[in-house]
Amino acid sequence: MTVTTLNEYIIERQADFPYAKGELTRLLTHIGVAAKVINREVNKAGLVDILGEIGTDNVHGEEQKKLDVYADQKFINSLRASGECCGLASEENQNIVIFDEDLAKQGKYVVTVDPLDGSSNIDVNVSIGSIFSIFRRVTPVGHNAGIEDFIQEGTKQVAAGYIIYGSSTMMVYTTGKGVNGFTLDPSIGEFCLSHPNIQMPASGNIYSINEGNYLKFPEGVKKYLKYCQEIDAPTGRPYTSRYIGSLVSDFHRSLLKGGIFIYPRSAAYPKGKLRLIYECNPIAMLTEQAGGKATDGKKNRILDFKPKDLHQRVPFFVGSRNMVAKAEEFMEKFGHEEPNIEEI
Ligand code: AHG
Ligand code: MN
Ligand code: MN
Repeated sequence: MTVTTLNEYIIERQADFPYAKGELTRLLTHIGVAAKVINREVNKAGLVDILGEIGTDNVHGEEQKKLDVYADQKFINSLRASGECCGLASEENQNIVIFDEDLAKQGKYVVTVDPLDGSSNIDVNVSIGSIFSIFRRVTPVGHNAGIEDFIQEGTKQVAAGYIIYGSSTMMVYTTGKGVNGFTLDPSIGEFCLSHPNIQMPASGNIYSINEGNYLKFPEGVKKYLKYCQEIDAPTGRPYTSRYIGSLVSDFHRSLLKGGIFIYPRSAAYPKGKLRLIYECNPIAMLTEQAGGKATDGKKNRILDFKPKDLHQRVPFFVGSRNMVAKAEEFMEKFGHEEPNIEEI
């Protein structure tokens, strides 16, 4: 069986992008390099001083893990060196990171990244990931990147993907022409095509949500969960509950097996917890490219949101299109019963 490496695949598909004379190819390749470097540290995290907190908080007041900051730095270094990227927005940085070297200012693209997703799982050896998306800049080439390059609608993404550091390390990405998965072969240090043209099942029997927040969920979510738990053999219910706590891992399972992931608004997160720009938008692009659905639970397509700021949060309902549609039916039917979250 011939093996197609990530680089070979990107170059083969370069013809899909007449305007990209190799820039997007180089950019994706540099993201792959950063992923391999991070993967190396993740795989020996117990043996090197890369676990635990560093005693600082990120912009969200969340304590930063060493691997959060390490991964952030690796993406910054690799993208700055690519010569195709003029700036980066990251969960770990309050403001955009501008690459103001002359070569970088010529870059036509900007990248958003959640460098290490699922940080709470790092120290307990549960799978984690990195999430990225790529936009064409809107500021003039040759100048510094600006915030306007990053607060674009998700529909403007030219590419989106994630790396999952799990039982194997995979890179899953789309450039708007379907979704493909590449598994890292450590013996050759290359990502190799293993999951061509991934299609998300239209239905599934797995729901994924942090039920610890149940008391503060919107009424529509509570009613949907009860629907999932009812006994109804013809529809395959009761469904199974699976929650890993890393968006990348919970999503990857839904992508391959079908299912729904919900992070609704709650008392702790009145606007939802997940961040629109560097978590929800890239996952939403992958979802739609694979035939799934990604909304805020009220039929508002995630990719259509115009971000207000870099770290804006949104409620996130994502997965098999029939399951998301069913959850939205309950949200619509019981939306009027929404408890005023502040009262709880
Ligand atoms: P990050 O580690 O980048 O902050 O992301 C964590 C996110 C996401 O990965 C996951 O789905 C969610 O937080 C889990 O939140 P809870 O622990 O509140 O369930
Ligand atoms: Mn995250
Ligand atoms: Mn993160």
